[in-house]
Amino acid sequence: MMRVADKLIEQHCLTKAEYLELLKFWQDSDVAKRLSEEAVRLRKEYYGDKVFTRGLIEFTNYCRNNCYYCGIHRDNNNITRYRLTCDEIMECCRAGYELGYRTFVLQGGEDPYYTDEKMCEIIRSIKKDFSDCALTLSIGEKSYESYRLFREAGADRYLLRHETADCSLYSSLHPDEMKLETRIQCLYNLKSLGYQVGAGFMVGAPGQTLEHLAEDLAFLQELRPQMVGIGPFIPHHDTIYADEKAGSVELTLFLLSIIRIMLPKVMLPATTALGTMDPLGREKGLQYGANVVMPNLSPVKNRKMYELYDNKICTGEEAAECRGCLGRRVMSAGYRLVEERGDALE
Ligand code: 5AD
Ligand code: FES
Repeated sequence: MMRVADKLIEQHCLTKAEYLELLKFWQDSDVAKRLSEEAVRLRKEYYGDKVFTRGLIEFTNYCRNNCYYCGIHRDNNNITRYRLTCDEIMECCRAGYELGYRTFVLQGGEDPYYTDEKMCEIIRSIKKDFSDCALTLSIGEKSYESYRLFREAGADRYLLRHETADCSLYSSLHPDEMKLETRIQCLYNLKSLGYQVGAGFMVGAPGQTLEHLAEDLAFLQELRPQMVGIGPFIPHHDTIYADEKAGSVELTLFLLSIIRIMLPKVMLPATTALGTMDPLGREKGLQYGANVVMPNLSPVKNRKMYELYDNKICTGEEAAECRGCLGRRVMSAGYRLVEERGDALE
């Protein structure tokens, strides 16, 4: 039916030109079906019907960066900024642990208030009280030395989406002081320090073409991260992209299948952005190769303040409600939530 689809399935890798050829079929339901079946087969082969959870703690919405697409960019004066104390973070972890979470993700803007010393203190407290849990950081670009200190303090994983592997698209989405090269260097630094690393990108970011996405796939193939986070771009009303259209759910699902086939053992979340664009987006994500969900563990009072994009879901619920709700959703898709760290195989 489709030479490049077959080649991906047989060899788990393609050239950039072949990825582009394949991506042109994203609206072809036969191709999408063939890829999703293989993606689900692979994810079942390695991870069975398990869905891993990560308790997301959005601990600061202060940010020194001005990414054009992001609702919490520095110059947005229309949002209320907050920071969680170490005690508040520990409280989120405690509640999360009771609910069965065995991975915590500390995510925040690039907030200089949290010096390396403060971060290490937080990392150490979490790893001391929850020694059977994995700790993931998602706090942006830092020096090799900072990453080394965090790792030494006990951090296991790091999420840093590359956003786009194309230099000029990267420049059009970010202010001049941000460089793709720096971002990529950070990812390789993290890898060399022994972190399980997560990269990723937005689907349908303003100006993005299928060529750009082919470049992203080729980049992931080269980096071989343990985790990949992708979700549709969703406009935020306080950004220059307020009137842009959101990324496509179908294209995101198509990409999830390709990524699962390219990196069969990868940890691949069905993201909140996917659930925001489609009420059944996360369930669909699981049916196209995703095997992770990342519910919110942040204090309810802060959730609405961490709006990277408009209409973000689960900003009004308690942690317990999200766990229960997601458990049911995952069951309805034929999978089950597990109480495990969920490290990537190999
Ligand atoms: N729409 C979708 N995703 C977004 N992110 C930031 N802003 C948006 C938006 N408007 C994503 C980025 C970032 C991650 C934390 O959230 O990819 O890396
Ligand atoms: Fe949060 Fe459904 S996952 S309410």
